[in-house]
Amino acid sequence: MNKKYRKTIIAGNWKMNLLPSDVKSFTEELRTLLPKAKTCEVALLVPYTHISALRRAMKDNRISVGAQDVSVHDKGAYTGEISADMLADLGASYVIVGHSECRQYHGDSDFTVGAKAAAVLEKGMSPIICVGESLEQRERGLTMEYITYQVLAALSFVPEGKERSIVIAYEPIWAIGTGKTATKEEAQEVCEGIRDVVREKFGARVARSVSILYGGSMNPKNAAELLSMPDIDGGLIGGASLKPHDFAQIIDAVAQVTGEEQK
Ligand code: 13P
Repeated sequence: MNKKYRKTIIAGNWKMNLLPSDVKSFTEELRTLLPKAKTCEVALLVPYTHISALRRAMKDNRISVGAQDVSVHDKGAYTGEISADMLADLGASYVIVGHSECRQYHGDSDFTVGAKAAAVLEKGMSPIICVGESLEQRERGLTMEYITYQVLAALSFVPEGKERSIVIAYEPIWAIGTGKTATKEEAQEVCEGIRDVVREKFGARVARSVSILYGGSMNPKNAAELLSMPDIDGGLIGGASLKPHDFAQIIDAVAQVTGEEQK
């Protein structure tokens, strides 16, 4: 399917790393390494405490800013929670929902993930909906069945008219932080399957315009081959997004792949 209908997104998920006071030096270094012309959308999904500093450092909007989670609630007596409204007010454009670490450590169910995606969309931001199978599920041949279930559960919460604002990230749990990347064929097969699910639910026009990212040990060495696959529209990068040089090299891989395709 033609990639021209959708955005390529390179998104860094800092998880619980770096300090707010590290943001300035990080962005100063990254800025010197970014390609002159914009070849893709670049986003950094940072802890809540870092969002304002990152927005200030990136006033020129070369990098979109986002969060890693959000409350399902609008407002009220929910001590410790952060609402979608608060994130939108800080200038966030993206919010990760359903990361496997939130599913595992905070018990986020598919229902919760869907409700979070809806909350983000209602406030005009894009949820990056994460799905992914465990090693056991993959070994038992259940990957696509499980991913289909996760994607459909989240899509059922998307408000009408907001379908094109979603981003889906395929992150096999066994590839996160392990140095073990899915092969480009494995990643493509699942991302294509995800697009089929989106097509069945929302039709071909939406399916061709939704960006589907791969995440799980993406690094400067494997980025180009993953990004060259027809249904992989970018990356959700953990470890390698903490080093400006590595992150910039992954951004460069987009230009490399686009250049190859135009030859
Ligand atoms: P790593 O790139 O460190 O494997 O993390 C992937 C991830 O979980 C991004 O959300």
